[in-house]
Amino acid sequence: MRLAQCHNFHDFRELARRRLPGPIFHYIDGGADDETTLRRNTTSFDSVDLLPHVLRGVDEVDLSTTIMGQKLALPFYLSPTALQRLFHHRGEHAVAAAAAKYGTMFGVSSLGTVALEELRAAHKTPQVYQFYFHKDRGLNRAMMQRAKDAGVEVMMLTVDSITGGNRERDKRTGFSIPFRLTLGGMLQFAIKPMWGINYMTHPKFSLPQLDAHVKMGGAMSIGRYFTEMLDPTMNWDDLAEMVQEWGGKFCLKGVIHPDDARRAAEVGCDAVILSNHGGRQLDGARSPFDGLAEVVDAVGDRLDVIMDSGIQRGSHIVKALSMGAKAVGLGRAYLFPLAAAGQPGVERMLGLMKDEVVRDMRLMGAARVADLTRENLRFR
Ligand code: LAC
Repeated sequence: MRLAQCHNFHDFRELARRRLPGPIFHYIDGGADDETTLRRNTTSFDSVDLLPHVLRGVDEVDLSTTIMGQKLALPFYLSPTALQRLFHHRGEHAVAAAAAKYGTMFGVSSLGTVALEELRAAHKTPQVYQFYFHKDRGLNRAMMQRAKDAGVEVMMLTVDSITGGNRERDKRTGFSIPFRLTLGGMLQFAIKPMWGINYMTHPKFSLPQLDAHVKMGGAMSIGRYFTEMLDPTMNWDDLAEMVQEWGGKFCLKGVIHPDDARRAAEVGCDAVILSNHGGRQLDGARSPFDGLAEVVDAVGDRLDVIMDSGIQRGSHIVKALSMGAKAVGLGRAYLFPLAAAGQPGVERMLGLMKDEVVRDMRLMGAARVADLTRENLRFR
Protein backbone atom coordinates (compact mmCIF):
# COMPACT_ATOMS: atom_id res chain seq x y z
CA MET A 1 0.00 0.00 0.00
CA ARG A 2 1.33 3.44 -0.97
CA LEU A 3 0.39 7.01 -0.13
CA ALA A 4 -1.22 7.50 -3.54
CA GLN A 5 -3.63 4.70 -2.63
CA CYS A 6 -4.85 6.51 0.47
CA HIS A 7 -8.18 8.17 -0.26
CA ASN A 8 -9.71 8.54 3.17
CA PHE A 9 -9.21 8.26 6.93
CA HIS A 10 -9.40 4.47 6.86
CA ASP A 11 -6.71 4.14 4.19
CA PHE A 12 -4.29 6.44 6.06
CA ARG A 13 -5.02 4.54 9.26
CA GLU A 14 -4.22 1.25 7.57
CA LEU A 15 -0.95 2.55 6.11
CA ALA A 16 0.02 3.96 9.52
CA ARG A 17 -0.82 0.63 11.15
CA ARG A 18 1.55 -1.14 8.76
CA ARG A 19 4.38 1.30 9.41
CA LEU A 20 4.21 1.86 13.16
CA PRO A 21 5.26 -0.44 16.00
CA GLY A 22 2.06 -1.82 17.55
CA PRO A 23 2.22 0.08 20.88
CA ILE A 24 2.53 3.42 19.06
CA PHE A 25 -0.30 2.68 16.64
CA HIS A 26 -2.59 1.69 19.50
CA TYR A 27 -1.65 4.78 21.51
CA ILE A 28 -2.95 6.95 18.64
CA ASP A 29 -5.90 4.75 17.71
CA GLY A 30 -7.23 3.90 21.15
CA GLY A 31 -9.70 5.49 23.55
CA ALA A 32 -10.82 5.09 27.16
CA ASP A 33 -12.64 2.10 28.72
CA ASP A 34 -14.91 0.45 26.15
CA GLU A 35 -14.23 3.16 23.54
CA THR A 36 -17.95 3.95 23.37
CA THR A 37 -17.35 7.68 23.14
CA LEU A 38 -14.55 7.16 20.64
CA ARG A 39 -17.00 5.43 18.29
CA ARG A 40 -19.92 7.73 19.06
CA ASN A 41 -17.84 10.81 18.20
CA THR A 42 -17.96 9.73 14.56
CA THR A 43 -21.31 7.92 14.36
CA SER A 44 -23.12 10.93 15.87
CA PHE A 45 -22.72 12.68 12.51
CA ASP A 46 -25.03 10.01 11.04
CA SER A 47 -27.94 11.12 13.23
CA VAL A 48 -28.29 14.25 11.09
CA ASP A 49 -29.03 14.48 7.37
CA LEU A 50 -27.89 17.22 5.04
CA LEU A 51 -30.68 19.01 3.19
CA PRO A 52 -29.11 20.49 0.08
CA HIS A 53 -30.37 23.46 -1.89
CA VAL A 54 -30.22 23.12 -5.67
CA LEU A 55 -30.01 25.65 -8.51
CA ARG A 56 -28.06 28.19 -6.52
CA GLY A 57 -25.31 28.61 -9.06
CA VAL A 58 -22.28 27.69 -6.94
CA ASP A 59 -18.98 27.81 -8.81
CA GLU A 60 -16.21 29.22 -6.62
CA VAL A 61 -16.38 28.08 -3.00
CA ASP A 62 -14.79 30.23 -0.30
CA LEU A 63 -13.70 28.05 2.62
CA SER A 64 -12.12 30.80 4.70
CA THR A 65 -13.12 31.42 8.29
CA THR A 66 -11.86 33.56 11.15
CA ILE A 67 -11.44 32.10 14.62
CA MET A 68 -9.88 33.85 17.59
CA GLY A 69 -8.83 36.64 15.30
CA GLN A 70 -6.92 34.28 12.99
CA LYS A 71 -8.00 34.23 9.36
CA LEU A 72 -7.74 30.65 8.07
CA ALA A 73 -8.07 29.55 4.45
CA LEU A 74 -9.83 26.40 5.63
CA PRO A 75 -12.55 25.81 8.24
CA PHE A 76 -10.44 23.01 9.76
CA TYR A 77 -7.06 23.05 11.52
CA LEU A 78 -4.56 20.58 12.94
CA SER A 79 -5.18 20.24 16.67
CA PRO A 80 -2.28 20.05 19.07
CA THR A 81 -1.29 16.45 19.79
CA ALA A 82 1.49 14.90 21.85
CA LEU A 83 4.64 12.97 20.93
CA GLN A 84 4.61 13.56 17.17
CA ARG A 85 8.27 12.66 16.54
CA LEU A 86 7.43 9.20 17.78
CA PHE A 87 5.02 8.83 14.85
CA HIS A 88 7.33 10.28 12.20
CA HIS A 89 10.88 11.54 12.66
CA ARG A 90 10.00 15.06 11.42
CA GLY A 91 7.03 15.23 13.79
CA GLU A 92 5.68 18.73 14.43
CA HIS A 93 7.82 20.23 11.64
CA ALA A 94 6.06 18.07 9.05
CA VAL A 95 2.64 18.95 10.47
CA ALA A 96 3.31 22.69 10.73
CA ALA A 97 4.76 22.87 7.20
CA ALA A 98 1.67 21.14 5.78
CA ALA A 99 -0.63 23.48 7.74
CA ALA A 100 1.26 26.52 6.41
CA LYS A 101 0.98 25.27 2.85
CA TYR A 102 -2.80 25.08 3.19
CA GLY A 103 -3.13 28.34 5.14
CA THR A 104 -4.47 26.80 8.30
CA MET A 105 -3.56 26.71 11.98
CA PHE A 106 -1.55 24.06 13.81
CA GLY A 107 -1.08 23.34 17.48
CA VAL A 108 1.89 22.49 19.63
CA SER A 109 1.31 20.42 22.73
CA SER A 110 2.87 20.80 26.17
CA LEU A 111 3.91 17.23 25.39
CA GLY A 112 5.23 18.21 21.96
CA THR A 113 8.54 16.88 20.67
CA VAL A 114 9.84 20.05 18.95
CA ALA A 115 10.34 23.33 20.83
CA LEU A 116 7.50 25.80 20.36
CA GLU A 117 10.00 28.61 19.60
CA GLU A 118 11.61 26.60 16.83
CA LEU A 119 8.23 25.95 15.23
CA ARG A 120 7.10 29.57 15.57
CA ALA A 121 10.26 30.71 13.80
CA ALA A 122 10.13 28.13 11.01
CA HIS A 123 6.47 28.12 9.85
CA LYS A 124 4.44 31.18 8.89
CA THR A 125 0.89 30.28 9.86
CA PRO A 126 -1.09 30.72 13.10
CA GLN A 127 0.19 28.57 15.95
CA VAL A 128 -1.68 27.48 19.04
CA TYR A 129 0.01 26.43 22.26
CA GLN A 130 -1.85 23.66 24.03
CA PHE A 131 -1.40 24.07 27.76
CA TYR A 132 -1.59 21.45 30.48
CA PHE A 133 -2.03 22.98 33.93
CA HIS A 134 0.60 21.33 36.12
CA LYS A 135 0.70 21.04 39.90
CA ASP A 136 3.93 23.03 39.70
CA ARG A 137 2.73 26.65 39.38
CA GLY A 138 6.26 27.83 38.59
CA LEU A 139 6.28 25.51 35.59
CA ASN A 140 2.90 26.89 34.48
CA ARG A 141 4.16 30.48 34.63
CA ALA A 142 7.39 29.61 32.81
CA MET A 143 5.53 27.76 30.02
CA MET A 144 3.15 30.65 29.50
CA GLN A 145 6.01 33.17 29.39
CA ARG A 146 7.87 31.04 26.83
CA ALA A 147 4.82 30.91 24.58
CA LYS A 148 4.37 34.67 24.91
CA ASP A 149 8.02 35.39 24.12
CA ALA A 150 7.88 33.10 21.10
CA GLY A 151 4.92 35.03 19.65
CA VAL A 152 2.45 32.15 19.70
CA GLU A 153 -0.92 33.50 18.52
CA VAL A 154 -3.37 31.51 20.66
CA MET A 155 -3.28 29.94 24.12
CA MET A 156 -5.40 26.80 24.38
CA LEU A 157 -6.01 25.35 27.84
CA THR A 158 -7.13 21.71 27.89
CA VAL A 159 -9.39 20.96 30.85
CA ASP A 160 -10.63 17.41 30.27
CA SER A 161 -7.46 15.69 31.47
CA ILE A 162 -7.06 16.40 35.18
CA THR A 163 -6.60 12.69 35.64
CA GLY A 164 -5.57 9.95 33.22
CA GLY A 165 -8.25 8.27 31.11
CA ASN A 166 -8.38 4.49 31.38
CA ARG A 167 -6.61 3.51 28.17
CA GLU A 168 -6.53 -0.23 28.34
CA ARG A 169 -4.73 -0.62 25.02
CA ASP A 170 -1.76 1.27 26.50
CA LYS A 171 -1.89 -0.92 29.58
CA ARG A 172 -1.76 -4.02 27.42
CA THR A 173 1.08 -2.82 25.20
CA GLY A 174 3.01 -1.09 27.99
CA PHE A 175 3.21 2.14 25.96
CA SER A 176 5.14 4.76 27.90
CA ILE A 177 7.22 7.93 27.53
CA PRO A 178 10.06 8.19 26.88
CA PHE A 179 9.46 5.35 24.45
CA ARG A 180 11.81 2.56 25.45
CA LEU A 181 13.02 -0.36 23.50
CA THR A 182 11.91 -3.03 25.90
CA LEU A 183 12.03 -6.65 24.83
CA GLY A 184 8.65 -6.17 23.14
CA GLY A 185 9.92 -2.91 21.64
CA MET A 186 12.95 -4.70 20.19
CA LEU A 187 10.66 -7.15 18.49
CA GLN A 188 8.63 -4.29 17.03
CA PHE A 189 11.88 -2.70 15.89
CA ALA A 190 12.68 -5.88 14.03
CA ILE A 191 9.31 -6.17 12.31
CA LYS A 192 8.97 -2.45 11.49
CA PRO A 193 12.57 -1.76 10.37
CA MET A 194 11.94 1.55 8.58
CA TRP A 195 10.35 3.09 11.63
CA GLY A 196 13.19 1.73 13.77
CA ILE A 197 15.95 3.05 11.53
CA ASN A 198 14.37 6.50 11.37
CA TYR A 199 13.84 6.57 15.12
CA MET A 200 17.46 5.64 15.82
CA THR A 201 19.08 7.90 13.23
CA HIS A 202 17.28 11.16 14.07
CA PRO A 203 17.69 13.48 17.07
CA LYS A 204 16.93 11.79 20.34
CA PHE A 205 13.31 11.88 21.45
CA SER A 206 12.64 14.67 23.92
CA LEU A 207 9.85 16.85 25.31
CA PRO A 208 11.37 20.34 24.93
CA GLN A 209 8.37 22.16 26.41
CA LEU A 210 8.89 20.27 29.67
CA ASP A 211 12.45 18.97 29.79
CA ALA A 212 13.90 22.00 31.55
CA HIS A 213 11.30 21.76 34.31
CA VAL A 214 10.27 18.17 34.79
CA LYS A 215 12.16 15.07 35.74
CA MET A 216 10.12 12.23 34.35
CA GLY A 217 11.68 9.66 36.66
CA GLY A 218 11.75 6.70 34.29
CA ALA A 219 9.16 5.60 31.78
CA MET A 220 5.63 6.81 32.39
CA SER A 221 2.30 6.09 30.75
CA ILE A 222 0.31 9.08 29.51
CA GLY A 223 -2.39 8.19 32.04
CA ARG A 224 0.12 8.30 34.89
CA TYR A 225 1.56 11.57 33.58
CA PHE A 226 -1.87 13.23 33.70
CA THR A 227 -2.61 11.83 37.14
CA GLU A 228 0.74 12.62 38.74
CA MET A 229 1.76 15.87 37.07
CA LEU A 230 -1.45 17.75 36.32
CA ASP A 231 -3.36 19.71 38.92
CA PRO A 232 -6.80 18.20 39.62
CA THR A 233 -7.74 21.23 41.77
CA MET A 234 -7.65 23.59 38.76
CA ASN A 235 -10.79 25.77 38.87
CA TRP A 236 -12.49 28.80 37.30
CA ASP A 237 -10.35 31.24 39.32
CA ASP A 238 -7.21 29.62 37.91
CA LEU A 239 -8.66 30.00 34.42
CA ALA A 240 -9.54 33.66 35.00
CA GLU A 241 -6.00 34.30 36.22
CA MET A 242 -4.50 32.57 33.19
CA VAL A 243 -6.69 34.53 30.77
CA GLN A 244 -5.52 37.78 32.44
CA GLU A 245 -1.87 36.79 32.52
CA TRP A 246 -1.84 35.66 28.89
CA GLY A 247 -3.49 38.87 27.68
CA GLY A 248 -3.97 37.57 24.12
CA LYS A 249 -6.33 35.19 22.34
CA PHE A 250 -7.40 32.43 24.70
CA CYS A 251 -9.44 29.34 24.16
CA LEU A 252 -10.80 26.69 26.50
CA LYS A 253 -10.71 23.15 25.16
CA GLY A 254 -12.65 20.19 26.48
CA VAL A 255 -16.00 21.83 27.22
CA ILE A 256 -19.32 20.09 26.59
CA HIS A 257 -21.73 21.58 29.17
CA PRO A 258 -23.39 24.85 28.03
CA ASP A 259 -23.05 26.29 31.56
CA ASP A 260 -19.28 25.84 31.33
CA ALA A 261 -19.26 27.54 27.95
CA ARG A 262 -21.15 30.49 29.54
CA ARG A 263 -18.58 30.73 32.32
CA ALA A 264 -15.79 30.65 29.75
CA ALA A 265 -17.42 33.61 28.02
CA GLU A 266 -17.74 35.44 31.34
CA VAL A 267 -14.03 35.14 32.19
CA GLY A 268 -13.09 36.48 28.76
CA CYS A 269 -12.24 33.43 26.65
CA ASP A 270 -12.29 34.08 22.90
CA ALA A 271 -13.37 30.53 22.04
CA VAL A 272 -14.52 27.24 23.47
CA ILE A 273 -13.75 23.91 21.88
CA LEU A 274 -16.27 21.16 22.39
CA SER A 275 -14.07 18.12 22.74
CA ASN A 276 -13.79 14.89 24.69
CA HIS A 277 -10.13 14.45 23.79
CA GLY A 278 -10.98 12.08 20.95
CA GLY A 279 -12.72 9.69 23.35
CA ARG A 280 -9.48 9.20 25.28
CA GLN A 281 -10.61 10.50 28.67
CA LEU A 282 -14.20 10.04 29.98
CA ASP A 283 -15.87 7.16 28.21
CA GLY A 284 -19.63 7.68 28.00
CA ALA A 285 -19.16 11.44 27.58
CA ARG A 286 -21.46 13.13 25.08
CA SER A 287 -20.03 13.57 21.61
CA PRO A 288 -19.16 17.15 20.65
CA PHE A 289 -21.41 17.02 17.59
CA ASP A 290 -24.38 15.93 19.73
CA GLY A 291 -23.68 18.77 22.16
CA LEU A 292 -22.88 21.46 19.61
CA ALA A 293 -26.30 23.08 19.06
CA GLU A 294 -26.82 23.63 22.77
CA VAL A 295 -23.46 25.37 23.19
CA VAL A 296 -23.84 27.48 20.04
CA ASP A 297 -27.24 28.64 21.32
CA ALA A 298 -25.78 29.47 24.73
CA VAL A 299 -22.67 31.42 23.72
CA GLY A 300 -22.41 31.57 19.93
CA ASP A 301 -23.00 35.32 19.95
CA ARG A 302 -20.22 35.93 22.51
CA LEU A 303 -17.34 33.74 21.42
CA ASP A 304 -16.20 31.34 18.70
CA VAL A 305 -17.59 27.85 19.12
CA ILE A 306 -15.28 25.18 17.71
CA MET A 307 -15.42 21.40 17.96
CA ASP A 308 -13.10 18.42 17.56
CA SER A 309 -13.22 14.64 18.13
CA GLY A 310 -14.33 12.07 15.59
CA ILE A 311 -14.08 14.07 12.36
CA GLN A 312 -13.09 11.83 9.46
CA ARG A 313 -14.93 13.27 6.44
CA GLY A 314 -15.64 16.51 4.63
CA SER A 315 -19.35 15.90 5.22
CA HIS A 316 -18.70 15.78 8.99
CA ILE A 317 -17.12 19.21 8.72
CA VAL A 318 -20.05 20.52 6.66
CA LYS A 319 -22.49 19.21 9.29
CA ALA A 320 -20.54 20.79 12.16
CA LEU A 321 -20.36 24.15 10.35
CA SER A 322 -24.08 23.97 9.55
CA MET A 323 -24.81 23.36 13.24
CA GLY A 324 -22.96 26.55 14.10
CA ALA A 325 -19.28 25.67 14.65
CA LYS A 326 -16.88 28.30 13.29
CA ALA A 327 -14.21 25.67 12.56
CA VAL A 328 -13.26 22.15 13.56
CA GLY A 329 -10.05 20.51 14.75
CA LEU A 330 -8.54 17.32 13.37
CA GLY A 331 -6.45 14.89 15.43
CA ARG A 332 -6.11 11.28 14.36
CA ALA A 333 -7.20 12.43 10.89
CA TYR A 334 -3.72 13.96 10.41
CA LEU A 335 -1.72 11.76 12.79
CA PHE A 336 -2.28 8.66 10.69
CA PRO A 337 -1.16 10.46 7.49
CA LEU A 338 1.86 11.78 9.43
CA ALA A 339 2.78 8.28 10.56
CA ALA A 340 2.07 6.89 7.10
CA ALA A 341 4.20 9.33 5.10
CA GLY A 342 5.32 12.45 7.00
CA GLN A 343 4.66 15.89 5.47
CA PRO A 344 3.46 14.56 2.08
CA GLY A 345 0.98 12.39 4.00
CA VAL A 346 -0.45 15.32 5.95
CA GLU A 347 -0.56 17.42 2.77
CA ARG A 348 -2.39 14.70 0.91
CA MET A 349 -4.96 14.45 3.69
CA LEU A 350 -5.46 18.24 3.76
CA GLY A 351 -5.89 18.29 -0.02
CA LEU A 352 -8.40 15.45 0.02
CA MET A 353 -10.33 16.96 2.92
CA LYS A 354 -10.39 20.36 1.22
CA ASP A 355 -11.70 18.75 -1.99
CA GLU A 356 -14.38 16.92 -0.03
CA VAL A 357 -15.58 20.07 1.71
CA VAL A 358 -15.59 22.07 -1.55
CA ARG A 359 -17.48 19.31 -3.37
CA ASP A 360 -20.00 18.91 -0.55
CA MET A 361 -20.57 22.65 -0.30
CA ARG A 362 -21.23 22.86 -4.05
CA LEU A 363 -23.68 20.00 -3.70
CA MET A 364 -25.28 21.80 -0.75
CA GLY A 365 -25.66 25.01 -2.73
CA ALA A 366 -23.33 26.88 -0.35
CA ALA A 367 -20.64 29.20 -1.69
CA ARG A 368 -19.33 30.38 1.70
CA VAL A 369 -19.07 28.92 5.18
CA ALA A 370 -21.71 31.44 6.33
CA ASP A 371 -24.19 29.94 3.82
CA LEU A 372 -24.26 26.75 5.89
CA THR A 373 -26.94 26.98 8.56
CA ARG A 374 -29.09 24.69 10.65
CA GLU A 375 -31.77 25.12 8.07
CA ASN A 376 -29.68 22.70 5.99
CA LEU A 377 -29.93 19.93 8.58
CA ARG A 378 -32.67 17.49 9.60
CA PHE A 379 -32.47 15.13 12.57
CA ARG A 380 -33.45 11.56 11.85
C1 LAC B 1 -3.30 12.08 24.87
C2 LAC B 1 -2.72 13.37 25.31
C3 LAC B 1 -1.33 13.41 25.63
O1 LAC B 1 -2.61 11.06 24.79
O2 LAC B 1 -3.24 14.47 24.68
O3 LAC B 1 -4.50 12.06 24.65
